Amino acid sequence: MSDFPYSDRFTVNRVLPERGRPREEVLAELREMAQAEDPTWETGKVSGTMYCGDHEHYRFLDEAFGLFAHVNVLQRDICPSATKFEGEIIAMALDLMHADAVTDGQPVGMVTTGGTGSIIHALLAYREHAAKHRGITRGNFIKPETGHPAFDKGCHLFGIELRTAPIDPQTTQVDVDWVANNIDANTIAIMGSACNYGYGTVDPIPQLGELALSRGVGLHVDGCLGGFVLPFAQELGYDVPLFDFRVPGVTSISADNHKYGYALKGASTVLFRDKAYRNAQYFFLPEWSGGKYHSPGIEGSRSGGLIAAAWASMVQLGREGYRSYAKAIFETAFTMQDAVRSHPELTIMGSPTFCFAFRSDEFDIYHVADAMKPKGWRFNGQQYPNAIHMAVTRPQTQPGVAEAFAVDLAAAVEYAKKKNAAGEAPISAAVYGGVPGGMTEEAAQFIEGFMEQMLDTQQSLPPL
Ligand SMILES: Cc1ncc(COP(=O)(O)O)c(C=O)c1O
Repeated sequence: MSDFPYSDRFTVNRVLPERGRPREEVLAELREMAQAEDPTWETGKVSGTMYCGDHEHYRFLDEAFGLFAHVNVLQRDICPSATKFEGEIIAMALDLMHADAVTDGQPVGMVTTGGTGSIIHALLAYREHAAKHRGITRGNFIKPETGHPAFDKGCHLFGIELRTAPIDPQTTQVDVDWVANNIDANTIAIMGSACNYGYGTVDPIPQLGELALSRGVGLHVDGCLGGFVLPFAQELGYDVPLFDFRVPGVTSISADNHKYGYALKGASTVLFRDKAYRNAQYFFLPEWSGGKYHSPGIEGSRSGGLIAAAWASMVQLGREGYRSYAKAIFETAFTMQDAVRSHPELTIMGSPTFCFAFRSDEFDIYHVADAMKPKGWRFNGQQYPNAIHMAVTRPQTQPGVAEAFAVDLAAAVEYAKKKNAAGEAPISAAVYGGVPGGMTEEAAQFIEGFMEQMLDTQQSLPPL
């Protein structure tokens, strides 16, 4: 699909139109775009992103959203429902993360707009908590290299020094000794993923917890991806290591409702072992001429619709619903991993579960991505080393998808071998593959252009 498939089909709005259009006409235009785009992932060949993929569930969430979409949850006096929804989302998520095991704090949480939102709120909480209780003015935070870029973004925004720990290339887990050697008097917190985005592997959280406790720093567990699926897999008896509040030393956890919580996009939960962390980042401006202002997080106005839909998803599915989806996802992921392992040219990285990455020592793995792309497969790409990953979601659990993966993968391996023998470079490596020597001026310009394309309507216009 081109980036601008609609520019010759619909009016390009470069200015606010003087006269509005009939609602039905606007809706027809929206429907046409949605109907053109949904089939790309409905096949089950797209990694991640459409975690639920069930239109019936989406219609249910849309109705829940529609009832409260226009409500600003900052004004609680006119929407006590938001207090019920937000409080219950937090309580249910705390329950899922075994906050009942906490004896050294008062567990609390907050609902944010996404994984990045949860992560940056946790970073702000650690910064403010460390300033208040330890007098730290320029703190540092340690993440494994595999930790999500949201941590880099948050540290950048809040003036926190980021220290990046290497990972063991075999297990893809963080080098705990490196973390231990790099904690100092200004370390506000460290983190581990459960699981990380790139390889789907879980860092050794109990070891990190011990370290955090012994050195008096916080430990954030990034469960944005795994937070709403790994606990159910644990309940089902799959081999998933401990990563939640049962681990001493874990002081905060992020878990995205809008991923495996099957909520609408724009909802995540961040949980704290003790309310002193969360409350440290509250914002008050009592002397403002516009009135006494306070907000529990970074956002100002927030839509009640997203909170209502996230709540609705949780209570409608219940543990039973989440468990049954987790089982189907895990079984599908293991079937797909078996297909990968059946090719000696391919290597699965670390010991992943529902999200797995694979690479090859015999050819550039992006040849495999190239061969599978025309068949509708869309993987996420890694670099250093080049690898591709599949985050298995509900669309992959449809009948026939794992089987199609095995067939198409076998053909792709043959294709890759031929291309490699011919000395040809893969096509998709230009976008996903490692840039030798790191970021070049050309690569920076390419990325800037890519973002401009997303934001600047002029790009889609024919020349004047
Ligand atoms: C492990 C992990 N953490 C954080 C994030 C960031 O989440 P979001 O894109 O919702 O901001 C992601 C996104 O895929 C993720 O996989």
